[in-house]
Amino acid sequence: MMSKHLIAPSILSANFAQLGNDIEMINKSEADWFHVDIMDGVFVPNISFGFPIMKSLQKLATKTLDVHLMIVQPERYINDFKDTGANILSVHYEACTHLHRTIHAIKEAGMKAGVAINPHTSIDLLKDVIADIDLVCMMSVNPGFGGQKFIENTYQKCTDLKNLILQKNSHCLIEIDGGVNEITAPKLLAAGANVLVAGNYVFSSKNPIETIASLKALQ
Ligand code: DX5
Ligand code: ZN
Repeated sequence: MMSKHLIAPSILSANFAQLGNDIEMINKSEADWFHVDIMDGVFVPNISFGFPIMKSLQKLATKTLDVHLMIVQPERYINDFKDTGANILSVHYEACTHLHRTIHAIKEAGMKAGVAINPHTSIDLLKDVIADIDLVCMMSVNPGFGGQKFIENTYQKCTDLKNLILQKNSHCLIEIDGGVNEITAPKLLAAGANVLVAGNYVFSSKNPIETIASLKALQ
């Protein structure tokens, strides 16, 4: 039997003036992970937040911290993210000249290693690292902002990635990031997705706890 998919609300869409309340809400909900988006204003055209917010999450969050680095040369900060509570650390394929080395450095630091890919990056490029990684964070929007429109090509890419994972006998999970909602989520699960990130859909809803539960309840 396939194990149940995981839900990872994205803190990027939280209310930072009341962050403690939103962290509490996710703690109490059926969410599995916290998805934490770190942006440097260089790799992506936006700046989000850094270690002070990581430390607040470390203190208050009771679930896995799934950290998505949208920064250049992410290898510079592996230990800092470990020290501020990251459990899973994903780096962008497009930001790493020595991706294999960076993946292994993340694992040696004691975290699960993920690779994030932009919408234009072919999954074929992952074939020589897929057996080494724990997660592929497949971007279904161009990274940088919450609340963007889902790119439809992602369904096919998800199916192709699932096939690659099976072919290479990898235990890697497929995480979909961007534009996840009640329309896209069921189709993504049918295409083989294991983890659904949801920012805007959760935090702009009237009842985020129920919205998270409805994503978790999908078959
Ligand atoms: C985008 C981030 C996403 C973002 C998803 O660069 O990586 O994690 O928060 O947001 P929604 O679910 O609003 O598309
Ligand atoms: Zn993300």
